[in-house]
Amino acid sequence: MNGQINWDNLRTAALAVRQRAWAPYSKFQVGAALSAGGNIFIGCNVENVSYPVGMCAERSAIAAMVSAGFVQPDALVVAAGPLITPCGMCRQALYEFSPTLPVLLVSADTGEQKETTLQALLPGAFQVDP
Ligand code: THU
Repeated sequence: MNGQINWDNLRTAALAVRQRAWAPYSKFQVGAALSAGGNIFIGCNVENVSYPVGMCAERSAIAAMVSAGFVQPDALVVAAGPLITPCGMCRQALYEFSPTLPVLLVSADTGEQKETTLQALLPGAFQVDP
């Protein structure tokens, strides 16, 4: 979708979905909101008693976006209690759909924000035929 990213709406969505995180083991709630085609796709972390089964918020949002038929995200907001950056696995998963994705990190605890990009977060991403 053309036009400016509505960062306020994306941040609100990420903070709201964070509240739905299923995180009884880590108690660490994360929300992610991806903008694509003028829509917002949300995800939270979903943990499991078998710990490695757990899913991060960012990859939950990617799954929602792709399931809805969108594959070109133009912005991401990640919200957690403290200011965090996406884990390595999520960086690689995001790279698949937008190597230059603008990312806004938000602290739900303090309101602090930091802008970054996927290029800055994941130099040297794995690619076939780089
Ligand atoms: N987590 C995310 O959802 N996204 C990240 O980028 C980092 C970590 C989740 C995984 C786990 O449920 C909890 O946060 C603690 O690691």
